[in-house]
Amino acid sequence: MISGNPVTTSNLIDGKQTAEDIKVEIAAAVAALKATGQKVPHLAAILVGHDGGSETYVRNKVLACERVGYESTLLRFEDNITEAELLAKVAELNENPAVDGFIVQLPLPKHIDADKVIEAIRPEKDVDGFHPMNLGRMVAGLPALLPATPSGIVELLTRQGIKTSGKHAVVIGRSNIVGTPVSILLAKNLETANCTVTLCHSRTKNLAEICRTADIVVAAIGRPEFVTADMVSPGAVVIDVGTTRVPDATKKSGFALKGDVNFAEVAPLASAITPVPGGVGPMTIAMLLLNTLRAAKGEIYPR
Ligand code: GUN
Repeated sequence: MISGNPVTTSNLIDGKQTAEDIKVEIAAAVAALKATGQKVPHLAAILVGHDGGSETYVRNKVLACERVGYESTLLRFEDNITEAELLAKVAELNENPAVDGFIVQLPLPKHIDADKVIEAIRPEKDVDGFHPMNLGRMVAGLPALLPATPSGIVELLTRQGIKTSGKHAVVIGRSNIVGTPVSILLAKNLETANCTVTLCHSRTKNLAEICRTADIVVAAIGRPEFVTADMVSPGAVVIDVGTTRVPDATKKSGFALKGDVNFAEVAPLASAITPVPGGVGPMTIAMLLLNTLRAAKGEIYPR
């Protein structure tokens, strides 16, 4: 029998509310731009194909733009678009002075080289923070457009008052989008980071043992309910990045969104835990909006 904290709302990290707070701040910044006669930020999104998850994410990104007073443009293409055609659309957005920043929703169809598409985005418009220039600047500690999910995780910890300095963070998963960049950000010599970081992946030996030594667990492997109670030490902070759709006949949509953490088992142990949905997901969108504001103001790459 594992003892720990009872599941109460007090150990739930409310990413939705935190993201709302950030959106209120962004809306105020937009109002200030308008008041001085400047144009409002404009985010564009490219969506290829009809993946249900991607459609939802992009819809939520467009809705968030409306919420804070941005302009937004959604460019949709069928999944038979060629790589050359997609690269031409990226080039158009790069050249369009009305668009401050844009994203290409991933994953892309297999016949398109996603790395090539990301590299074609101008770094100053790369509000996903995926371009090697932004990733490199982040690693070097230079001002950069930071990837949204990793910076959203750090912002969430900061705004929840969770101390990170000197803590051992174990990141599970080494994707370019989350695992690798969040491990770098958490290790930075910053007030909001300063963790000792262990990055675990599919070849890691003794994964459960390593996880049990963590003060902070970041689960980003895309395997539903992978992190179980035996992998988490009582009092740990647990950040769940997973959002896998699993069939669920009891839901109107026919699926349920599952995180990478077995919430029922792990929540009673954790001192703080993010739910899925309503944890990291809304923070990703809030940070995308923040990057778009930075791009519009030319904060990282002066115009
Ligand atoms: N697919 C999953 N997460 C993301 C994201 O943050 N940005 C983009 N463009 N695609 C994604």
